[in-house]
Amino acid sequence: MVNKLLAHHRPKWKTHIGFLLAAVGSAIGLGNIWRFSYLCYRNGGGAFLIPYLTALFIVGVPLMILEIGLGHKMRGSAPASFASISKKWEWLGWWQIIFVMFGIVLYYSVIIAWCLNYFFFSFNLSWGQAPDNFFANTFLMSTDSPFQVGDVRTIILASLAFIWFCNWFIVFKGVQKGLERASKIFMPLLFILVAVIVIWGLTLPGARKGVSVYLRPDFSQLTNIDVWRDAFGQIFFTLSLGFGIMIAYASYLPKKTQIVRDSLIISGLNCLFSLFAGVGVFAVLGYMATAKSVPISEVVTQSVGLAFVTFPEAISLLPAFSNVFGVLFFGSLVVAGLSSSVSIVEAFASGISDKFHYRRKTTVSVLCIFGFLGSIIFTTKGGVNWIEIVDHFLNQYGLILGGIFQCILVGWVLKARNLQKHINHYSDWKVPGFWNFCIKIISPVILLIIFISTLLSEISSPYGGFSRVATILIGRDWLFYTFFAALIVASHPWRTDPSRRIISHEKEKS
Ligand code: TRP
Repeated sequence: MVNKLLAHHRPKWKTHIGFLLAAVGSAIGLGNIWRFSYLCYRNGGGAFLIPYLTALFIVGVPLMILEIGLGHKMRGSAPASFASISKKWEWLGWWQIIFVMFGIVLYYSVIIAWCLNYFFFSFNLSWGQAPDNFFANTFLMSTDSPFQVGDVRTIILASLAFIWFCNWFIVFKGVQKGLERASKIFMPLLFILVAVIVIWGLTLPGARKGVSVYLRPDFSQLTNIDVWRDAFGQIFFTLSLGFGIMIAYASYLPKKTQIVRDSLIISGLNCLFSLFAGVGVFAVLGYMATAKSVPISEVVTQSVGLAFVTFPEAISLLPAFSNVFGVLFFGSLVVAGLSSSVSIVEAFASGISDKFHYRRKTTVSVLCIFGFLGSIIFTTKGGVNWIEIVDHFLNQYGLILGGIFQCILVGWVLKARNLQKHINHYSDWKVPGFWNFCIKIISPVILLIIFISTLLSEISSPYGGFSRVATILIGRDWLFYTFFAALIVASHPWRTDPSRRIISHEKEKS
């Protein structure tokens, strides 16, 4: 009876394609547009596809199968799923969703807010002749140190409020009417926007030079350990692994579902999108280098620098319809970012409603208000320094550590073999035995190597030239506080036993 009640209350995807689009929407984010192409360029062009695809197949896809399989089996959010394996590990689920929700998304939403500001700036190319000066001094008014916080930039605060309103509106409406509907609009829109950017970019003079620099293989890079580290780190972030998101999304799937095929589709579409968007980015960079008669290496940048300094400059140099191009580019960043940020709000809300049974709508509203308030620190004049530090620590340490623990928990405590049996029972495409080996040994060992090597380079020189005090007080402590918060929430008793929801194929047979 209780079982039926629980199953009844759990939201469900209305259509299978709705689930796929929402999961792809979570995976495709700012990182696909502004980071992948740069990594490719810096790490051996086309040759980078070798470490990248290796990372995809020995860590990315296996972990995607793990997360989707686990959410499906346990029919619960990350904390509920981990608690169903062992109550001692519940903290891990909370830690993942807490540091993503009250860490990564707080600054990620501020960057989406910048994109929204730039979307409007594009109409009259407000950045003028010196986009770097405009970005740092007129727009951000940035200070040199994270400790010089300064006041809030109201223009950023206003668009941030709108972004959090969108997050709230979509998740508040529920899985079917909110997330699913939004993904069905956002994803096709994003593909069209990026396709227009790529085609337009390719028609510009110098575009071919750009694309050839992006993809020209340099196999000598493959002996460099950093290249491999970049590939594995990027796969983890880009596929939303270790965020607790895919677990929550999979918990809304029906019993009969294609876990393996879906994991391959989500991972594959995400990576193809990155590759495709990279063509557009480098076509534009090739054009810019040609227009300025400088070598391409002088114009290549990544992330914030690419989107808010280099691209605005390139857009201003376009022969015609510059503002339309700007609107398309920043519009696509906003859409890509929003479809990722809503996914963690959903994953967090689902964790809270699994454990505390609060009303979903109240939970989502309170969560978005706190999310908005927490983001405000990143809208101050010192905010950009905070973004850099928090981004580095949460991604390089939080996500990777969470991933290692997740592999240990599923591989050794639950036993990979048990999850494999579950997946193979429901899925037509079967998980091979090699998967168990990936989860138990290969993935955690590789993640551990990445973790240690980052730690070692951190010890020799603090990240990004910031003072050691700043990186410790802001970066390390952010991880610690979220960890303690996770322990506290995990120690709270459950209202109903989370393991009651588990789908067991063995029981079904008997
Ligand atoms: N995959 C996204 C990217 O490449 C990042 C991301 C995934 C994300 N899920 C998220 C960011 C949730 C914030 C919140 O950019």
